Amino acid sequence: MSKLFVSEHPLIHAKMAMLRNKETGTKEFREIIGEVASLLFYEATRDLPVTDIAVQTPIAATICKTIDTKLAVVPILRAGLGMVDAMVDLIPSAKIGHIGLYRDPVTHEPVEYYCKLPFDIEERYIIVCDPMLATGGSAAAGIQFLKDRGCTNIRLMCLIGAPEGIAEVQKQHPDVDIYIGTVDEKLNDHGYIIPGLGDAGDRLFGTK
Ligand code: PRP
Ligand code: URA
Repeated sequence: MSKLFVSEHPLIHAKMAMLRNKETGTKEFREIIGEVASLLFYEATRDLPVTDIAVQTPIAATICKTIDTKLAVVPILRAGLGMVDAMVDLIPSAKIGHIGLYRDPVTHEPVEYYCKLPFDIEERYIIVCDPMLATGGSAAAGIQFLKDRGCTNIRLMCLIGAPEGIAEVQKQHPDVDIYIGTVDEKLNDHGYIIPGLGDAGDRLFGTK
């Protein structure tokens, strides 16, 4: 079974309260999504291998640690895009892949419409990101695309998860660790997370 990391950090709780609030506007919503992504990325990269490098300070020569792992951030479109900048700001050498999926409004099944990945994706340490893990269908399908292309080192990072979605990803991908800001109560009949924050894509891009 994969590892499930659920943040109990006060900063994430406080920012989540702002994201959930329906009065929070697009600009602020976008900024806070990035801030929470940054805090979760800190946890999701905790086990990244480091190597020694020689550094000359103004005072002395020393050995420091650096990250030379090949990393890829793979947002699930659209809403995953809102998490990307915060991550690549911290590791600018990371490459970005895109997987376009939307949920069919009736069946809630994921429908693929775009996929563009770094040419060496199978060699990379991959973080798939999407703010919302509802039924788990989109995340599980996105992870499967990557596995079909030979990827083996995959983590999933989401802001809010429903128990149903977490269980589905763990069932389909027991090798993929999940990093999540908070776990909500359940899904409603339309597959929306309760209490959730509404439609993350629409709130990020102001489309509704
Ligand atoms: C949302 C969200 C996830 C998906 C989660 O995307 O960003 O990708 O739903 O639901 P699931 O776990 O039940 O699959 P949506 O399909 O609304 O597309 P959008 O990001 O383009 O708005
Ligand atoms: N997608 C969203 O954006 N929000 C939900 O609550 C569920 C799926």
